[in-house]
Amino acid sequence: MKEEKKPMTKAEYQHRNQTFNEIRENVRKDTYRLQYHLQPPIGWLNDPNGLCQIGDTYHIYFQYTPFNPEGGTGLWGHMTTKDFIHYDEQEPAIYPDSIWDANGAYSGSAYEEEGNYYFFYTGNIKYTDKEYDYISDGREQNVILITTKDGFDFSEKKLIMTNEDFPKDMSKHVRDPQIIKRNGKYYMILGARDLKSKGSVLLFESENLIQWNYKLRFTTEETFGYMWECPNWVEINGKQFLIACPQGVKQEEINFANKYQCGYFPVEYEFGEESYTIQPFKQLDRGFDFYAPQVFQDHQGRSILIGWMGMPDSEYGNEPTVQKGWQHALTVPRELYVTEKGILAQRPVKELEKLRTKKKEFHFQDTFCEEVPVSFELDITLSEHKQFILSIREGVKLQYAQGILTLDMDQYGNGRTTRGVKVDNIKNIKILSDASSLEIFINDGEEVFTTRIYDSMSQLYCKISACSLKGKLELFEINNRI
Ligand code: FRU
Repeated sequence: MKEEKKPMTKAEYQHRNQTFNEIRENVRKDTYRLQYHLQPPIGWLNDPNGLCQIGDTYHIYFQYTPFNPEGGTGLWGHMTTKDFIHYDEQEPAIYPDSIWDANGAYSGSAYEEEGNYYFFYTGNIKYTDKEYDYISDGREQNVILITTKDGFDFSEKKLIMTNEDFPKDMSKHVRDPQIIKRNGKYYMILGARDLKSKGSVLLFESENLIQWNYKLRFTTEETFGYMWECPNWVEINGKQFLIACPQGVKQEEINFANKYQCGYFPVEYEFGEESYTIQPFKQLDRGFDFYAPQVFQDHQGRSILIGWMGMPDSEYGNEPTVQKGWQHALTVPRELYVTEKGILAQRPVKELEKLRTKKKEFHFQDTFCEEVPVSFELDITLSEHKQFILSIREGVKLQYAQGILTLDMDQYGNGRTTRGVKVDNIKNIKILSDASSLEIFINDGEEVFTTRIYDSMSQLYCKISACSLKGKLELFEINNRI
């Protein structure tokens, strides 16, 4: 990522933004623009931040580098939506304009209490006066608080913690706060790397959201990566999960195949106690482009996850869109639920069904071939199978054989190759296809593949050629230029 070392004030942003009208227009016309995903109006986007619902409006903030599609010092972009279908662009919410966050208003989250929204985020500072390793020195990561009632007007920035407040054995990488309230007390989790390069999530406790005391760290006995980014605490039906993004985990056959990982540890913890139990990590997504998700609870009590449809430092990229002046997008919002087996599964929020037009239904025995537009939803219920090949769009295949489901991007992934997952029995598959993305949900979202795709979009078709594949197939066209 190229660093723009200069802090950016609101006035500077507004001034520069005026000179980007032509680029904005080019971006808008790009055929790889997604039809129903949140994407940056110009430039670069990464993590979703500060997700919350205020009144009837969902606020989605995100790491944003508007004037450079290859990233750099980020601010918080801001979009709002009432239905997860139409998104309105708003003025950026946080600018890297203070001595605590001048090299990036890094990731953070929203916490609501009595109509007040508390946004805790990481202020990044990088020294450039001499050579540093940027692990044990050369940078600062500060916890900063801003508050709002409406999601638009924010208070002054307040410095809450600096690296001095973190345990002495921590490196300078401690970031991405999230707040949880239990038994009348506040807790903050922060992703961390210690000086021995063991990843963990730090837990702090507070009576008032301002003074914080270190409590403990969640980690595995054996080191599982050197840094855990973007932690989220998720509790559904009494089951607790710690979502994190470990960096530095070695690939094991088809597992942990991406540059960095994203998944969850089932945990048992009584807040306030000194000990916990933690179970093995499970990947949340098996595709090429899924990272740094954030989970929030909406007013209906749903735990909604939105991920970054990207992968930092990966060997494959998104040059076709970078050339047009933009890069990356967010996943569709997904509701989390816990299966009988205790798996944290994901399904697209119900609202997205409103995108469906033109339904076609088929019962297929063996082969099937149908032309569809590039944005579609495909729902397959399988009744019997041992192996099958499902071609989705130009050359891209889902192949099931010997208990392994493989996504093969052929030459249409701009460097993305294959990814797989072991699945004993495939009962259903839901595919959300958009101009340059695929989200594939297996067995009601117990496994998911999220990936960007760069095919020619000239041959729009969806073809099934299968051996002993029986079932029902529903196909919906989607037409929603947002
Ligand atoms: C994850 C991440 C976070 C950090 C942010 C900076 O993608 O590295 O840990 O806060 O991105 O943009």
